[in-house]
Amino acid sequence: MKTDNVAKPKQNLMGSEVVEGYACKPKKLDPNKPIMYYHAIVYICSDERCAKAGGEEKAAWLRGVVKDMGLHTGTQRIKVSRSLCQGACRFRQVAQINAPAPNDKLWLKHTHTFDRETWVEILRAIRDNKAITENRIEMRVYEEQGL
Ligand code: FES
Repeated sequence: MKTDNVAKPKQNLMGSEVVEGYACKPKKLDPNKPIMYYHAIVYICSDERCAKAGGEEKAAWLRGVVKDMGLHTGTQRIKVSRSLCQGACRFRQVAQINAPAPNDKLWLKHTHTFDRETWVEILRAIRDNKAITENRIEMRVYEEQGL
C-alpha cells in the first residue's frame, strides 16, 4: 500500500490555508469572505489601568478557556477580544459582553479577581442564555445638568 507523505497545508478555523508561521493569517485574502459567526463577544479591557489589575494577556488566557470548553467555533461560539479603555476604570478589570438576552448590555467588574472556575460558569451562562447576576456594573441614565 502506498502512503501519502505530503503534509496537508495548515488551515485556519475558517478553512483558509495559512501563511507559514501563523495560526490564522490566510495566504489568500478574500475581502468578501464572511466573518466567523459568534453567539457572544467578550471584550476584556487591556488598557493601562485594567491591565495593571488583571494583566495585558487576560484575553489570550480567556481564549484558551473558551477553546477548552469547545466554545471557540460553531453556533455557540464565544469570541474574546481585547479592548482599549472602556471608560469604567474604577471597576477594573472591566469586561463588556455582548450576548443575547438576558446578558445583553452586560458589563462585569473586578474580573481580575475571577478564577478559571468563575469564568467557566460565566461562559456557560452566556452559552445557555442564563442571567449573570454577580459582579455586574450597574448602568443609569444621567440627565444633563443645566449649566
Ligand atoms: S483602562 Fe479599562 S476601563 Fe479604563
